[in-house]
Amino acid sequence: MASPKITVIGTGYLGATHAAAMAELGFDVLGLDISPEKIATLERGEAPMYEPGLDELLRKHVAGHEGASGRLRFTTSYAEVGEFGDVHFICVNTPQKHGEYACDMSYVDAAVESLAPHLTRPALVVGKSTVPVGSADRLAARLAELAPAGEEAELAWNPEFLREGFAVQDTLHPDRLVVGVRSERAEQLLREVYATPVAEGSPFIVTDFPTAELVKTSANSFLATKISFINAMAEVCEAADGDVVKLAEAIGHDDRIGKKFLRAGIGFGGGCLPKDIRAFMARAGELGASEALSFLREVDSINMRRRAQMVELTREAVGGSLLGKRVGVLGATFKPDSDDVRDSPALNVAGQLHLQGAQVTVYDPKGLENARAIFPTLGYADSAIGAVRGADVVLHLTEWREFKELDPAELGEAVATRHVLDGRNTLDPALWRKSGWTFRALGRPTA
Ligand code: UDX
Repeated sequence: MASPKITVIGTGYLGATHAAAMAELGFDVLGLDISPEKIATLERGEAPMYEPGLDELLRKHVAGHEGASGRLRFTTSYAEVGEFGDVHFICVNTPQKHGEYACDMSYVDAAVESLAPHLTRPALVVGKSTVPVGSADRLAARLAELAPAGEEAELAWNPEFLREGFAVQDTLHPDRLVVGVRSERAEQLLREVYATPVAEGSPFIVTDFPTAELVKTSANSFLATKISFINAMAEVCEAADGDVVKLAEAIGHDDRIGKKFLRAGIGFGGGCLPKDIRAFMARAGELGASEALSFLREVDSINMRRRAQMVELTREAVGGSLLGKRVGVLGATFKPDSDDVRDSPALNVAGQLHLQGAQVTVYDPKGLENARAIFPTLGYADSAIGAVRGADVVLHLTEWREFKELDPAELGEAVATRHVLDGRNTLDPALWRKSGWTFRALGRPTA
């Protein structure tokens, strides 16, 4: 039997990577987005966001590029997608609803409702977006109602665990594949799609719809909890003059705890962890299980308190009032190797300082354009040295490698006062102090 033809609906962080990875695995792929601009960008072989390795993968496969496999094409037409595909991946985003904890399902609903009328032959629709538990059940019923193929158009749920900055690697070599299915046929089709990563060792876990949906939200809740745990320990270290970096290293040697995701700092942000834990709490409430997740409220509060603590340390560093003080900020994105500033702790801290009267200048290797778009009133510079020139205090808020490699002596020549606050605990205190800097970090001793 010929390989199944794949479509990917929604070509953002998740979909653009998934489409390119599917082409890399040897499938013919058609990607759909409702934004013609995004499609035009992808057709030029460029990712709509900065993601290491993705531009190269697109150019390797997008039809029309010299030497490309031609296995990857894009469209804005649902009719074309319905005609083309055997397996349709839904990769649209599920943001937090404005002013609420709940997740906005309108893009997923619209994707299924737009696709279904074009499914005239057997097809598998595979949800990858992060959704509240119970959504797959509801969407399966909607699909059966709207698809001319009736029961031959089936739904499966296959959550995605990729990390920004490692999206290509995580998609091609996932540490596990989870599929929620209702039939043998759906399972077999997904086994065929993922045959290569499974042959290379990725575990393939088959389960029902609710469990598949819950695996994603519970994994993200666990990660968020781990970060807030170490940040709570940072608060205690600050009170007791302990060192959270040493503490994390020491507890991480216990295999049951593990070293990863124990970096204390200004906390988690991005398009996933913050909104996913909130949507999970909202959904648990609807299900009458809110008590089970009440700890996530604390996880969220600890996370937000770290941003506030960074603002307080900055105020202290400049003598008690931020008004008119010059603050040089290194980092705007929510993590390094990404241009994503959604719910970025770095940009949030910079914004709070600005609103309290400081003159803030931000530099980020990849995130400046996105930062400017959502926070146009902040000052921006094209280099680290430009951001810190004349500064009364320097804040390190996103741990780009470039910042770790900065020469504190050289930076010291540019600032007004050699005072640095490390919000990510990746700078070397001894190195900075040697060059005459007052160095403070979250959860670490003052000297
Ligand atoms: C996350 C999940 O890791 C991924 O599996 C899921 O599919 C999507 O959400 P991502 O949002 O790309 O991925 O970022 P991640 O690497 O998890 O980092 C999230 C945030 O936590 C970042 O702001 C990061 O700086 C912060 N973080 C991470 C810490 O503050 N400390 C840590 O130890 C680890």
